[in-house]
Amino acid sequence: MSSAGEQDRTATRDGIVAAPAHVAIIMDGNGRWAAARGLPRLEGHRRGVEALRRTIRASIELGIRYLTVFSFSSENWKRPREEVSDLMGLLKRFIRNDLANLHANEVRVLVLGSRDRLSDDIAGLLSEAENLTRDNTGLTLVVAFNYGSRQEIVAAAASIAHDVAAGRLAPQDVTETLLSERLGTRDIPDPDLVIRTSGEKRLSNFLLWQAAYAEYVFTPTLWPDFDRSTLEAAIAEYRGRDRRYGGLSSRAGAAS
Ligand code: FPP
Repeated sequence: MSSAGEQDRTATRDGIVAAPAHVAIIMDGNGRWAAARGLPRLEGHRRGVEALRRTIRASIELGIRYLTVFSFSSENWKRPREEVSDLMGLLKRFIRNDLANLHANEVRVLVLGSRDRLSDDIAGLLSEAENLTRDNTGLTLVVAFNYGSRQEIVAAAASIAHDVAAGRLAPQDVTETLLSERLGTRDIPDPDLVIRTSGEKRLSNFLLWQAAYAEYVFTPTLWPDFDRSTLEAAIAEYRGRDRRYGGLSSRAGAAS
């Protein structure tokens, strides 16, 4: 879990607003972007991949350490079969086209979510991306794919219940730390800032446990239009927030 100290160590460069350590993004609005232009939804998703590339580049430049992107939710299987297949195709193309470049830029790729319903070629590409980049020391890009936070928490609870039933753990051993260590995010700090694009104000089953103390920024910008300036504006809003973690304000002279 990230501490204030970790944020203070985040690079502050001339002219660049200091970045939170972990930014998580719900990339929303591809379909509306396409509909507004009379284009097929796939074109919105294609432009969404371009926005993702821009955001990865900007995150590196701004000194963000972890970028998590919600690319396909466990509920997205409910979309028409053709759109699901388009999104799978885009993920494949993204990894095939961009993996070498991500690796050259020291990006470490982690994949969050279940591999259960994924085809062998997708699961293979995801593992390849993780294996190739595992020792990289730059930005950690967490791709949430076939991810649902409730399912992740249920799996963690079931694994703990299993250990309790087998006598390997006692009920009093069950703590926040233990549960955190059973989540797919066990190796990454909690998000400091969660951004959702397109004006929707929901979490949609994204990082429910991990984002307990995150700051939220909801921007009307549709995901395909997202760029470095939108990211910087969200970070500036984050910097203006007073993170109290349930305690009192740390700001000098603040009333509470
Ligand atoms: C939301 O737009 C976006 C998604 C469901 C998928 C996000 C996917 C991308 C940004 C491109 C794919 C990238 C990878 C790496 C696979 P929406 O379709 O819900 O938009 P709408 O609410 O306007 O219909």
